[in-house]
Amino acid sequence: MMGCMWPCAAAAIATTAATVGSGAGRKGWWLFRTKVRCPMEVVRHSRDLLRIVFEDRDASSNKEDLKPETKVMVDLRRNIREVKCILYGNGEAEPVTEACTNLTKEFFKENTNTMHLLILCLPYLDSETKKDVTQVIANLQRQKVDSKIIASDYLEVNKDLLDVLVSGYDNMEIAIHYSTILRDCIRHQVAARH
Ligand SMILES: *[C@@H]1O[C@H](CO)[C@@H](O)[C@H](O)[C@H]1NC(C)=O
Repeated sequence: MMGCMWPCAAAAIATTAATVGSGAGRKGWWLFRTKVRCPMEVVRHSRDLLRIVFEDRDASSNKEDLKPETKVMVDLRRNIREVKCILYGNGEAEPVTEACTNLTKEFFKENTNTMHLLILCLPYLDSETKKDVTQVIANLQRQKVDSKIIASDYLEVNKDLLDVLVSGYDNMEIAIHYSTILRDCIRHQVAARH
C-alpha cells in the first residue's frame, strides 16, 4: 500500500522507537512498530480495541483486562496517540489533509459507533490518553470531507451522545473531559449551521 506512507506517522514511529530504547523484551515490539499503517487502519484498530474495553468494562471477572499495563490498553493508548498525530502533526511534520480526511471518514463511518465507544471508554483510560481523546474529538469536529463537516451530521443523528456527555459524573476528571468535549461539539454544531 504505497499510498499509506505519510510523514507524520513515520516520524512518530521513529520517535517512539527512540524513546522506548533497547531491552531484549522489546525486540518483537520493535519490528511491529516499524510497520506504517493507513489512517483508516489506525481507526479500525482503535475501534476494535475500544470494543474490547467496552465489553469488558461491566464484566467484573474481566476487570484485569482494563488495567493500564494490559496489552489491550497499551495498544489502545498507542493507537489513540497515532490518531492524534495524524490529525495534529507531531511538531516535525504537518498533518496531511488526505490522511485527515480518510481518518475522519472512517471515524464517522455509519454503524460503527466509534465516537460512542471512544466517549464511553474514556473513564477507563489513563489521564494522558484522556487528554488525547479530548483533543482528537475537538479536531474531528472541524474536519471537512468533501467540504462538509461530517461530525455535524453524526451528532445530528446521535443526539444521545450529548446526553452521555452531560450525564453527571462522580469523578471530577471525567466531568472535566466530558464538559470540554460537549462544549467543542456544541460550538461546532452551531458553527456548522451558520
Ligand atoms: C486515502 O484513501 C484513499 C482511498 O481509499 C487511498 O487511495 C489513499 O491512499 C488514502 N490516503 C492516505 C494518506 O491514507
